Order: sequence, then C-alpha cells, then structure tokens
Amino acid sequence: MRVIVEPDASGVARTAARFVARLLRRKPNCVLGLATGSTPLGMYRDLIHMHREEGLDFSRVVTFNLDEYVGLGPTHPQSYRRFMQENLFDHLNIEPRNTHVPDGRALDFEAYCQQYERQIEEAGGIDLQVLGVGSDGHIAFNEPGSSLGSRTRLKTLTEETVRDNARFFGTAEMVPRLAITVGVGTILESRQCLLLAAGPHKARAIRDTIEGPVTAQVTASALQLHRDVIAVVDEEAGRLLERRDYYREVERAQALLEAGQLAALLPDRARRNDE
Ligand code: GLP
Repeated sequence: MRVIVEPDASGVARTAARFVARLLRRKPNCVLGLATGSTPLGMYRDLIHMHREEGLDFSRVVTFNLDEYVGLGPTHPQSYRRFMQENLFDHLNIEPRNTHVPDGRALDFEAYCQQYERQIEEAGGIDLQVLGVGSDGHIAFNEPGSSLGSRTRLKTLTEETVRDNARFFGTAEMVPRLAITVGVGTILESRQCLLLAAGPHKARAIRDTIEGPVTAQVTASALQLHRDVIAVVDEEAGRLLERRDYYREVERAQALLEAGQLAALLPDRARRNDE
C-alpha cells in the first residue's frame, strides 16, 4: 500500500483530487467508485474547481456510489443520493444517467443488490474507488464482522456508526438502522483504491487498516490484500502509524525517480563511481 501523509485535510483533498483528475485525463470514460461522508467533501470541492477553472471533463464519466440508507428516498435531506447531487453531481457536466447511488427504497432488496453488482460489471468495473473509513475501521457500510468476500447487500449498522452519523440527522433515533452497501469483495475488485482520512478520530482506524492484521473486525484492513491502494491521510489521522517516517522516505524517493533524479538516491560512493 502506498501511504501519503499530508499536513492537513486540505492537503488530503488536493492530492486526492489530483489522482482523480489524472485518471480522468488518461481515461475520459473512466468508472469512478464514490463515497459520502465528510472526508471526501474537500476532494469534491477541488474537483468542481478543476472542472470550472481547467475544464476537467466529466461528460463520459460513470460513477457508482458505495452505499445508501434503507428507507430514504433520493430527495431526503440525509440520503446519500441527495448528498452526491448537492456536493458534486449538480456542479459538474456529468450525465445524470451515468451516476448510480443504491436505491434505499428498492422493493426487492436481494434482486436490487444483484442488479447493482451487474451494473458495475457491465460498466466495465470500477477504475478508481474512493473510500473513507469509519471510526471502527469499516469501509462503505461493511461493519465489523462483514465477510471479506461480501457483495452488495443489506447491512445492519452498529451503534458506533449510528452515533457517528447522528450529527447529520440531529439525533441517533433519526438514523436509519439498515443500509445497502457494496461488499468488501466488490471493493477489492476495483482496479485502484484511494483511501482518505483526516482528523484525530481516524487515527486508530488508520493504524489498524494499514498496519494491523487483516481481519473482518476492521474491514478496511482487507485493502492490504489489494494490489493497488493509495492511502492519503493527514498528520492527525496518521499519528499512530509506526512506519510514518518510512512512508515519507518512499514518497521522497518516488518523487526523485519521477523527476529523473535517480543519482540523488544512490549512496555517495556509487555516485562518485558513476561520474
Ligand atoms: C459512513 C459511510 C462511509 C464513510 C464513513 C466515514 O459510514 N458509509 O462510506 O467512510 O461514514 O464518514 P466520515 O467521512 O464522515 O468520517
């Protein structure tokens, strides 16, 4: 896993937006997996800015969101569909029919979840999956104990998640107890994952995700099994990472390599022999 530690949340947003923009320029018809929550908001703002100021083009992009609360319709103020419209889609030149958010009011959930999986497949699979992480280390709504091979399905939310999300609803009683969520297995099939986290309340989850054992108790830790994950965290969220200095060293080396300055990475003697 590549780990990038930024000084603050706005650094996380900028770096994440840059990864998305780079993909869009390389593959204008890419398929993005998108997340809700406070974490990706800064990245969405930066992408909107790039669209307006630099003409970043979303006209051929297809998106699939990770999850939705059961029982909430698309216009409900706390529905994830509404969140995505207000914080991203309404500000881009994206085709509405190319944006997918699970339907929290589907009638036959089992059939609907299978259909969602099929739609992802038919679109060619997710090129880049954006992820936040819950304070207990969950991704999407794959709560602790979710199978690491799980697919899109209904999931009961834990008390911790209900409490965390109560801030959006006013009280915990208003938070739906069920959600449709893509599975850990679905996420692991994306070609690349971009895991974002900021703030001190994410420090434990980020340590467990990146440096802990792979366990269904921390579903984000399954990302260690994925071949291409970039974690972008701020100082506070990365505070408990034991190998923080090493991750910085890797990034420094990577930057020098990209700038064609391999010599700067060689030990002194090797450099002298080269001259
Ligand atoms: C919810 C969402 C997750 C999100 C998490 C963290 O549980 N289903 O996709 O990552 O919240 O949210 P926040 O970014 O607001 O901390």
